Amino acid sequence: MSTKQKDERHTENVSAQPYFHQTAREIQSYGTVSHLVPLGLIEPVRLEMTEQLNLLLADTMTLRDLYKKSHWQVAGATFYQLHLLFDKHYGEQVELVDAIAERVQLLGGVSIAMAADVAETTRITRPPRGREEVPVQLSRLLDAHQVIILATRQLARRAMELGDDGSNDFLISEILRTNELQVWFLSEHLVKEPLVDVNEPSSGARAAK
Ligand SMILES: [Fe+2]
Repeated sequence: MSTKQKDERHTENVSAQPYFHQTAREIQSYGTVSHLVPLGLIEPVRLEMTEQLNLLLADTMTLRDLYKKSHWQVAGATFYQLHLLFDKHYGEQVELVDAIAERVQLLGGVSIAMAADVAETTRITRPPRGREEVPVQLSRLLDAHQVIILATRQLARRAMELGDDGSNDFLISEILRTNELQVWFLSEHLVKEPLVDVNEPSSGARAAK
């Protein structure tokens, strides 16, 4: 290209007009990893870890959305506290989603992102669109947590075997511990505790009547 041509081209490009509706080929396909990443982890290891982390990401995105569904649709005497608790757990899952997705990218992979792809990938059972009773909501959330917890422990052990210590630490310290804690907070709501009258009054209480 001559200098004159270059100058003409430059003049054409100087414009405040944004370029809309641009399309092009993907720069990296889903399910692949960059060949060279200076992490001291060979490509097959990063391929396996990103594949498994993407499954965990799909499950975590599903649990995140299950929390928002529960937050909106909850009903009954415990509405207020569960409405708030579900949103708190939702917020914590949002942070995990970002951390898992960025770990996939960091390892040279491509993180799953869109709802349709997540729906096809997750191992968590799809809930109905309608509203359900509190014990059913809680059971669904607990089942979803268990899917994630089991997969996380298994993947953490695999990461250790493969020498991916960063993933191992991340899976245990962030994913596993957050999910375990949330399971405790949910489970305690499924204990049959009377609100007003004790189930079996002690002899002292009976004598006082
Ligand atoms: Fe809200």
